[in-house]
Amino acid sequence: MRVRVPPRALKLIMKNPIKVSASILCADFKNLADEIKKAEDAGADMLHVDVMDGHFVPNISIGQIIVETIRPITKLPIEAHLMIEHPGMYIDSFIEAGTDIVSIQAECYGKRREHCRGVGQFPKEVDFIDVDLAKKDILKIQNKGKKAFMVINPGTPLCFSPLFNILDGVLIMSVNPGFAKQKFISSVLSKVEELKKVFKGDISIDGGVNAETAPLAVKAGVDILVTASYFFGSNNPKETVKYLKGLNS
Ligand code: DX5
Ligand code: ZN
Repeated sequence: MRVRVPPRALKLIMKNPIKVSASILCADFKNLADEIKKAEDAGADMLHVDVMDGHFVPNISIGQIIVETIRPITKLPIEAHLMIEHPGMYIDSFIEAGTDIVSIQAECYGKRREHCRGVGQFPKEVDFIDVDLAKKDILKIQNKGKKAFMVINPGTPLCFSPLFNILDGVLIMSVNPGFAKQKFISSVLSKVEELKKVFKGDISIDGGVNAETAPLAVKAGVDILVTASYFFGSNNPKETVKYLKGLNS
């Protein structure tokens, strides 16, 4: 006898497929166009551009010019992860360069904890944020038809719940930002679990994602896995993406 599953129940059973975001921080910049093609051919869903200013994080990386360079050669959505002070000043230029998702750090909108207030003190962490200030930047992004994600460092709590209903996504950092190839901080998974219960947008995780840690992140409720070293270091990028995408089936 065939059992008919009502459409509503089907919707509850079916899970959203996991998305993979290739962070170009570990791409070979001598051959960036080939590396972008590699991500596309492997089935990556988006590209992640890590923007670092040497002040918000202890490292300097790349900016709008790279987004502008790769925009004409890919159809994949491009996310700019802004690990910079005063992100609001740069939203327009990243969007003009071709960014689809602008990810801003919560630590730029609140009073920093004592230990990280000074120049050169990391990681930046906050306990509260000025919701109105952050909302201004979120709307600046969304009014241009782009998506806004809020990012939190491992030590920062989910301190922006009044913004849950307007954000397109939340990115949980699973390493202290600044460098690729760091060890996954598993204690952040409790934030993913907590968020999953109340937040309807995308939940993304970034830092130390690999074959061992990705299943834990997916089990906790993550929708998007950001990976730099695991993806670009893979001998078989197609299999790597297939493996990651299959984690919630
Ligand atoms: C860290 C960056 C990450 C980084 C991830 O500051 O925000 O996106 O590229 O690198 P892996 O995947 O090697 O941990
Ligand atoms: Zn990142």
